[in-house]
Amino acid sequence: MPTKTSITLKPEQADRLKQFIDSKFFNYGSVDVAKSSYWQYHSSQLVTEIDSPGSVRVSGESGFYVPPPSSFIKRSLLKLVKAFQHPSLIGTALRGNFQTRFGTHRLMSYRDAFDAVMNHDAISDSDLSPWRVNHLNLARKPNVFPSSASIEKRYQSWSSYAASPSIINHYYYQNLMRSFISGTELRTVLEIGAGNGNFSSIIFHEWSPVRLILVDLPETICLAFSFLSNLFPEARIVLPTELEQGLPEQFDFALLTVDQLDLVESDSVDLAINCHSFQEMTQAQIAIYFVFIQRICRNLGYFFTANRIDKIPCGPDSLTQEQLEPPNRFAEYPWDVHNKVLIYEISRLLRLVQLDDVAIRLEQIHK
Ligand SMILES: C[S@@+](CC[C@H](N)C(=O)[O-])C[C@H]1O[C@@H](n2cnc3c(N)ncnc32)[C@H](O)[C@@H]1O
Repeated sequence: MPTKTSITLKPEQADRLKQFIDSKFFNYGSVDVAKSSYWQYHSSQLVTEIDSPGSVRVSGESGFYVPPPSSFIKRSLLKLVKAFQHPSLIGTALRGNFQTRFGTHRLMSYRDAFDAVMNHDAISDSDLSPWRVNHLNLARKPNVFPSSASIEKRYQSWSSYAASPSIINHYYYQNLMRSFISGTELRTVLEIGAGNGNFSSIIFHEWSPVRLILVDLPETICLAFSFLSNLFPEARIVLPTELEQGLPEQFDFALLTVDQLDLVESDSVDLAINCHSFQEMTQAQIAIYFVFIQRICRNLGYFFTANRIDKIPCGPDSLTQEQLEPPNRFAEYPWDVHNKVLIYEISRLLRLVQLDDVAIRLEQIHK
C-alpha cells in the first residue's frame, strides 16, 4: 500500500522541481546498471505531483520514510482519512495492535530496542569485547543520545515530525559514528541512496556546520528535495539540473543523480554513507559505488554502511516467479582491504525489532 504525503513548497521551489522532472536528468542513461528489478518496480511507485501554487504530493513505498507529524490531532486525522479511503486496512491495523499488546512475540518496538541497546541490557547481546561497540561508554560521550525519550524530545524540538522507527534507527547510527568521529572532522558528507533524507537531515542538524551531497535515483530525489526543503526552509538545496557547471562553492544539500558521480572531486568528502540501499542494488552498481567512495573520500576520512547481511533485490512477483538476481551479501561486498575497520557487527538494535539481520560497518579510509 503506497504511503502518500503532501508537502508545501515555496512556488519558486516547486517550479525548480518541475524543471528537474521535465529535464534530461530525470531520464538518465545508466538505467540497466542503476535499477535492480526491485528498484525498477519501486521507482515506478514513487510519484511526485505538483499542484500549484507550491503544493507537492509525493507517494511511494520503499525509500519513503517521511515521519508522521508530531501533533497527535494531525496524526489521528491522517489515520481517519486512511481508514476512510481503505476500510479493509482497519482489520489489519487492529490485529497488529492486539498482537503487539497481548501476543507472545519476540520482536520489540524501536523505542524499547534502542533503550535496551544503549542501557547494555543482556537481551541486546551486550558482550564486552574489543570487537564490539561498548554502549555503556558510548552513552557517556558528548552528543550521544542515551535514551529514546532524549531522541523524541530532541527531534521534535527542531522538526515538525514525531520520531518514527526510521528516525530512531538513524539516531542510533549517529550515536555509533560519535564513538570514532569527532564533531569537527566533518565538513562534507555524501550519502548514497538517502531515500527522503532522514539520515542526511539528522547529520545536517546534529553535526552542523556540515554540507551534504546526496546521490540517488531521480524519482527519489524529488521526494528528498520536497522533504528537506520543507524541513530546512533556509537551506541552499541544489537540484541535478542546477549542477551543469559542477558543484557550487556554497550549498547545504546538493542532490545528484546516479549519472553525475564525476561532479564530485577526488579526496573532497569526509564521510560517505550508505544505509539500507546497497542491499537493493545490482552488483554492478555496488562495484561502481565502492570505487567511487574510495576516490572521493579523503585519506583518513570515513565510510559508514548498514545493510542486510543478505537480500535478493527482486521484483514484486518474487513469491510466484523464480528471480534471477543474485543475492547481495554484505560480507561479499568489494571492500577495500587498505581501509581500517573500526566497527563491524550485526546491528544490536535491528536484531531486536526485525527478523532479518543488518550488518553495520564503519571504516577509516586509507589510500
Ligand atoms: C530502502 S531505501 C533506503 C533509504 C534510506 N537510506 C533509509 O535508510 O531510510 C533505498 C534507497 O536506495 C536508492 N537507490 C536504489 N537504487 C539506487 C542506485 N542505483 N543508486 C543510488 N540510489 C539507489 C533508492 O532510491 C532509495 O533512496
